[in-house]
Amino acid sequence: MTDTHYTPEPIRMYGPQFQEDPEQLYRDMRKLHGPVVPVLMEGDIPAWLVVGYRELRYVLSNPQLFGRDSRRWNAWDRIPPDWPLMAFVGYQPSILFTEGAEHQRRAGALSDALASVDQFELRSQCEKVADSLIDAFTGHGRADLIAQYSQPMPLLSMVTMFGLPEAETPRIVADVTMVLNVGPESAEAYGRVQNAMQRLIAAKRERPGPDLPSRLLAHPAGLSDEEIVQDLVVLLSGGQEPTANWIGNTLRLMLTDERFAVTLSGGRRSASQALNEVMWEDSPAQNSLGRWAAHDTQLGGQRIRAGDALIIGLAAANADPQVRPDSYGGSAGNHAHMSFGHGEHGCPHPAPELAEVIAYTAVEVLLDRLPDMGLSVPADQLVWRPSFRLRALTTLPVEFTPGYLRGPG
Ligand code: HEM
Repeated sequence: MTDTHYTPEPIRMYGPQFQEDPEQLYRDMRKLHGPVVPVLMEGDIPAWLVVGYRELRYVLSNPQLFGRDSRRWNAWDRIPPDWPLMAFVGYQPSILFTEGAEHQRRAGALSDALASVDQFELRSQCEKVADSLIDAFTGHGRADLIAQYSQPMPLLSMVTMFGLPEAETPRIVADVTMVLNVGPESAEAYGRVQNAMQRLIAAKRERPGPDLPSRLLAHPAGLSDEEIVQDLVVLLSGGQEPTANWIGNTLRLMLTDERFAVTLSGGRRSASQALNEVMWEDSPAQNSLGRWAAHDTQLGGQRIRAGDALIIGLAAANADPQVRPDSYGGSAGNHAHMSFGHGEHGCPHPAPELAEVIAYTAVEVLLDRLPDMGLSVPADQLVWRPSFRLRALTTLPVEFTPGYLRGPG
């Protein structure tokens, strides 16, 4: 890595050019600036976007140099309190912002708790949820698969593993969705989710069950109630948003790409192929904000100052010609994408497996129930949500022959 002493013009990570064709923009960025790109976020706040696969692995494998604690940011004096991305950078004492031994203690407990989830039970819960969501629209012959299917699917599938009381579930699902949509009601909704998690922990202390909060309470890491509350909120939102987008983007691929359409009704294997292809082509989490340099360093030919912000360019790294040359023959069997992150702060084992159980079951049950489903608008009219963090459609309208109820009622 050499220091070029070159100060290139930064690229805006917002506005029409970014929304319309981020892939083309990533390609142009790489050509102009190489693997580490100076960018401007909303309000022209500077950051480095890491688009090189090799450089991204280096950043994520060196948490002492590129830390997760946002308090070391050297641009805090320029950030207004109502900055649109504040929810992702404002320090909170959750697993997300902890580092070193403290992070290992928290992450170890989360992974142990997640490993105890019975994946057969989860699958059967997913089937029930999928069936009852489909029952709600199957008689109409049309549906929006984003609002009516992929969005509600993950949280409803995860309520049993959280041991949430059934009566509280709709409120919590609505509040977590409000938090994730980042709007004027997000802060209040966030407070309500935290309160609900506090009540849940108090209840599980009294009466432990086979669920995540009880396992975290009993874990030898000795987590405090406050730590468990913080990390349960991270689990709820971290599990919901990318898994919903994974389902939505996979359904879009299967409905718009002939390779999948021909096997739509009998396509068990093609559902897994579509899920994997989406991880390479339409990564549900496009960019993650972020990491903060612990001291001056160099990366991909750029001079990084202590306290500079780095954006983790998951989607751009997946498209790096170093790992995806023009001769690339498709994603089948290749799971080396960066869409679950990498290193200490990557998606904790076995969360990706749980996400796959939810997403695969969602796709499979839908194809089983509505085998003649097709898009009700031309594919080029589908609209992506305006966000640099995630890749998600606003709607996915479909039509099908009206079917029969099948869920548990
Ligand atoms: C398609 C589904 C999912 C995708 C694409 C995904 C992706 C990611 C990525 C890229 C990161 C790392 C972000 C960074 O390095 O800045 C991450 C972290 C995390 N994910 Fe996931 N995730 C998914 C599902 C889940 C699920 C189902 C759960 C839990 C039930 C979960 C829990 C977490 C947690 C707790 C972290 C933070 C880890 C840490 O900071 O130590 N994720 N995920």
